Amino acid sequence: MTEPSWKRFPVVVTGGAGFIGSNFVLEWLEGAPGTAQPLVNVDCLTYAGNLKNLERVRAHPGYKFVRADICDRARLDALLEEHRPRAIVHFAAESHVDRSILGPDAFVETNVRGTFVLLEAARAYWNRLAGPERAGFRFLHVSTDEVYGSLGADDPAFCETTPYSPNSPYSATKAASDHLVRAYFHTYGLPTMITNCSNNYGPYHFPEKLIPLIITHALEGKPLPIYGDGMNVRDWLYVGDHCAALRLVLEKGRPGETYNIGGRNERSNREVVETICEILDELRPGSPHCPHKQLIRFVKDRPGHDRRYAIDATKLERELGWRALETFSTGLRKTVEWYLANPEWIADVLSGAYRKWIEQNYDGRDDDGRATEQARAGQHRVEE
Ligand code: NAD
Ligand code: DAU
Repeated sequence: MTEPSWKRFPVVVTGGAGFIGSNFVLEWLEGAPGTAQPLVNVDCLTYAGNLKNLERVRAHPGYKFVRADICDRARLDALLEEHRPRAIVHFAAESHVDRSILGPDAFVETNVRGTFVLLEAARAYWNRLAGPERAGFRFLHVSTDEVYGSLGADDPAFCETTPYSPNSPYSATKAASDHLVRAYFHTYGLPTMITNCSNNYGPYHFPEKLIPLIITHALEGKPLPIYGDGMNVRDWLYVGDHCAALRLVLEKGRPGETYNIGGRNERSNREVVETICEILDELRPGSPHCPHKQLIRFVKDRPGHDRRYAIDATKLERELGWRALETFSTGLRKTVEWYLANPEWIADVLSGAYRKWIEQNYDGRDDDGRATEQARAGQHRVEE
C-alpha cells in the first residue's frame, strides 16, 4: 500500500544535534533502505549540540539542518511555512540537572519559554492546514521521568497518572513545559503527545552525564566521582530503545495522551560505576589504571538529589506493542565499546574543538543568498 502524500512531508526535530536527538536523526534517516522520510533538524547548537554526531547523514538527500533558536518565533514561523512538516518532535532543552542548580535561567528560557514559543508557532501553522494534513499533524514533546519527583525504596514505579512533583530547576522547567503542551491539546485541540522517559545512555552522550563521564575519566585515569553514598537509583534505557519508542508514539500514539518510556533497569549509581570499571578491566586489560575501581571517589552530594526513579511502561507496551531490545548489560557493553572506538569524538568534545569547528564552518558563511540578506537585516540565520 502506498503512503498518503502528506506523509512524505518532513518531520521537524528540535534539538537534533544533542545526545538523544542525534541518535533519533541517525536512526530516522538510516533505517530500512528506501524508507527514510525527510527530516529537518532545528538546533541552535548550545555547548551540548554537536554536528559531528550527524556527519554520516550530512549529505543525505532527506536531511536538512537549520541553525535556529526555539525562542525565536519569527524563525520558527518562517521555517514551518517553508518546510510544511507533518510533525514536530521536540527534544531541544537544557538537560543537565547540575547545570540547572548552578544556573537555572537558561532552563527557564529554553525549556519553558522555548517550548511555549514553539507551541505558539505550531498552533499558528496547524491552524492554516486543512484536510488530511491537519488531521495527521502531530506535536510530540519529549520529556523526562524527573517531573514525577523522587521515589522511596518500596514505592511503585511512576505511571502516567503519578502526580507531578519536580525537585530540581531542570525538572521543574520540564514539568512546566509538559503542562503547557497538555494545555494546548485541551484548549486549542493541537494534536500533542507527551513522552516521559527514564535515564538514557548510549553513543554521543555528552561526558557531563554520569555514564560517559565515568567512561572518559576512567580511560584517562582520573577520579570517578560518585555523589553522596552512591545508592541513588536510576532506571536506565538504551537510547536506541527510546528512539524506537518515540517513532512508535509518533505514528500510533493518541493525541492528548502521555506515554511513559523505560526499560525496567533500575541500578544504583555505585553499581553502574562499578560495572563500567569491570567492563573496562576486561576490554583494556593492559591499562595502567586497572583495576579501574581504584579510581572511585565518593564526593559531596548534589543538592536536592532525587533518591530513586523507576518507570512503569505498561501503557506503551500494551497499547503500542513496544519492548526494549537492550538489557542494561548488553546496552552498557555496547556503549563502552562505542567510546573505546571513538577516541576522536571524545577528544573533540573534551577539548572544545568541535565548537571551533562550528565557528569555522559557520562564522561569516554567506554561501546562501538568504543567509546573507538576512544577516544584513540583523537576523541571525545560518543554514547548512
Ligand atoms: P542534550 O542536552 O544532549 O541536547 C539538547 C539539544 O538541544 C542540543 O543539541 C542543544 O544545542 C539544543 N538546544 C538547546 N537549547 C536550544 C534552543 N533554545 N533552541 C534550539 N536548540 C536548542 O539533551 P538530551 O539528553 O539529548 O535530551 C533531549 C531531550 O530529552 C530533552 O528534552 C530532555 O529533557 C529529554 N530527556 C532526556 C533524557 C536523558 O537521559 N538524557 C531522559 C529523558 C528525557
Ligand atoms: O531521568 C531522566 C533524566 O536523566 C533526564 O531528564 C536528564 O536530562 C538527564 O541528564 C538525566 O538526569 P540525571 O540527573 O539522573 O543524570 P546524571 O547523569 O547527571 O546523573 C545520574 C546519577 O548519577 C544521579 O543520581 C547523579 C549521579 N552522579 C552524576 C554525576 C554527573 C554522580 O554520582 N556523579 C557524577 O559525577
